[in-house]
Amino acid sequence: MTAPPRMQVVRSRQALRRCVRAWRRAGLRVAFVPTMGSLHEGHLSLLRRARRLGDRVVLSIFVNPTQFSPREDFGAYPRNLPRDLRLARGVPVDLCFTPPVEAMYAQDSRTEVRVTCLDRVLEGSTRPAHFAGVALVVLKLLHLVEPDLLILGQKDAQQALILERMVRDLDVPVKVVRGPTVRERDGLAMSSRNAFLSPEDRAAAAALWRSLRHARDLVRSGERRSSRVLAAVRADLAQEPRIRLDYAAAVDARTLEPLTRLEGRVLFPLAAYLGRTRLIDNLEIHVPGGRR
Ligand code: PAJ
Repeated sequence: MTAPPRMQVVRSRQALRRCVRAWRRAGLRVAFVPTMGSLHEGHLSLLRRARRLGDRVVLSIFVNPTQFSPREDFGAYPRNLPRDLRLARGVPVDLCFTPPVEAMYAQDSRTEVRVTCLDRVLEGSTRPAHFAGVALVVLKLLHLVEPDLLILGQKDAQQALILERMVRDLDVPVKVVRGPTVRERDGLAMSSRNAFLSPEDRAAAAALWRSLRHARDLVRSGERRSSRVLAAVRADLAQEPRIRLDYAAAVDARTLEPLTRLEGRVLFPLAAYLGRTRLIDNLEIHVPGGRR
């Protein structure tokens, strides 16, 4: 199956639908990667995964206002469309959808999409409307693109879980695939927000992944008490004065409920401020069950 020679860049929903429907009528499998742009290796790894799994790859670049609170960085969120399009062509991507805000949201839009229980914990505890905004835009994009595959990053594990649950609960006919977190050489998870870090904060930020690796080592060496593992993570991070920890937790990766005993699919999510930049990271490990 050869890909069409040029990437189409479309801003209108009608043009997007026309194009993707023609592919689907021809029996081609469409893989979709939603993003807010400012593409980095993390996004590109998802696009390459989409390239391997699908016959056609659709990328969306849309800085979604409904997932930012009034206090957050919607206006300041990094945007660089010419660079993003160049990187996307290199994958190659077949179609890039870059709608203006007015095309995605009617002024009098009133519908909310909430995945209850999962959306007010961890990231949702300080950003209560965030995941409703994410779910709304991704559901709309899924209706517009009608892909066979939706590719999401483990970097945002809570987001991926919420979207997987939304797809299941609302019978959206799409298969969700998660791609692993892509990291810088020192382990810092790639993020568009890393660009905001001062050189000193950037160097300090590597401690986030180091603390998660420490957690993994403790679990591998047999520790099953989450209090012990989290105490070690917090102690590691406390050594780095530039880091202000928001939360570090040990939760069931399927329910996000806190665990006292580490068993099964365990997720260690954390969030921290470096200066005014908020970074998140996580580690998921499978801990074999069975009482000792
Ligand atoms: P954005 O932050 O641009 O991320 C787009 C996708 O890339 C998400 O699935 C995210 O988990 C993934 N991603 C980000 N950094 C990654 C990394 N270092 N390694 C692997 N994957 C990574 O997440 C969003 O946009 C938005 O909330 C969106 C889903 C597009 C809805 O607006």
